[in-house]
Amino acid sequence: MKPETPLLFFDSGVGGLSVLGPTRALLPTAPIVYVADSAAFPYGTRSEAEIAARVPALLGRLTERFRPRIAVIACNTASTIALAYVRAALDIPVVGTVPAIKPAAEQSRTRIIGVLGTPATVRQPYVDDLAARFAADCTVLRHGSAELVELAERKLAGEAIDSADIDAAVAPLTGQGMDVVVLACTHFPLLSKELAAALPGVAQVDGGPGIARRIAHLTAGQPWPVQPPPGIAVFTGEGPAPAVAAALTDFGIGDLRNI
Ligand code: DGL
Repeated sequence: MKPETPLLFFDSGVGGLSVLGPTRALLPTAPIVYVADSAAFPYGTRSEAEIAARVPALLGRLTERFRPRIAVIACNTASTIALAYVRAALDIPVVGTVPAIKPAAEQSRTRIIGVLGTPATVRQPYVDDLAARFAADCTVLRHGSAELVELAERKLAGEAIDSADIDAAVAPLTGQGMDVVVLACTHFPLLSKELAAALPGVAQVDGGPGIARRIAHLTAGQPWPVQPPPGIAVFTGEGPAPAVAAALTDFGIGDLRNI
C-alpha cells in the first residue's frame, strides 16, 4: 500500500460530498478520487435492473483506472440495490451507504421514525430488512423524493432554494408523530438546514459520520501522504456548474475530469 493510493467515492452527483466531508475530517491527507455518474443522474427514478447493471460495471472500470485502496459507494440508491454485486466484482474493500435506521431507532422517543430517501431506495427489500432488524418496535414511515435530490444539486450549484418546495417534498412525513428522520439519500444532508426548518423538532440522522469511522477503521495502520495531494473529481457526463466546481475546492478537489 502506497501513501498516494486513493480512496474512491462514488455517487450519481454531488451527494457523496456528505460522506466525503466527515471522512476528510478523520483522514485529512487521504488522496481522493470523487466520481459523479452525471451521465446517469438521477439514480432515484431508475429501475433496479438499470442500477444493478450500471454501477458494478462502472466501478470496475474506475477501479482499474485509479487503483483505489477502498471504494466507497456514497449513494444509498446504488448501495441498497447493487452493493453485493459491486463487492463480488471488485477485489478491494467496498463500503456502502445504507439508511441509518439503527441509530434513528436508538434515539427515537415516539417510536415513529421516517426514512427519507429516493423513490428507488425506499422500496428496497434492503430497507425492509434494516427496519425489521433494528426498528421492529417502531413505525417506520417511508417517503421517496426525487425533488429533494434536484434541490440539493441546485443548492450546490448556487441557486436559491424556495422553502415551499422543501415543505411540499416532505409533507407526506408530517403530522404523524415522527421525532427522528433518516436522511437516506446522501444528497439530503446538503439540505440539512432547509429540512430542519420544514421538519421542526425532528432530529436528523445520516450515515456520513459512521461511514467515515468505518473507512478510518479499515485503513488503520496504512500509510498516508504528509500533505493532501490535489483531489480528483471525475464526471461521466456533464461536468459541474462553476459553483459546484468552487464547492469541490472546499473538499480539496481541483482536478476535474470527464470520462
Ligand atoms: N445520492 C443518491 C442516494 O444516496 C442518489 C440521488 C439520485 O441520483 O437520485 O440515494
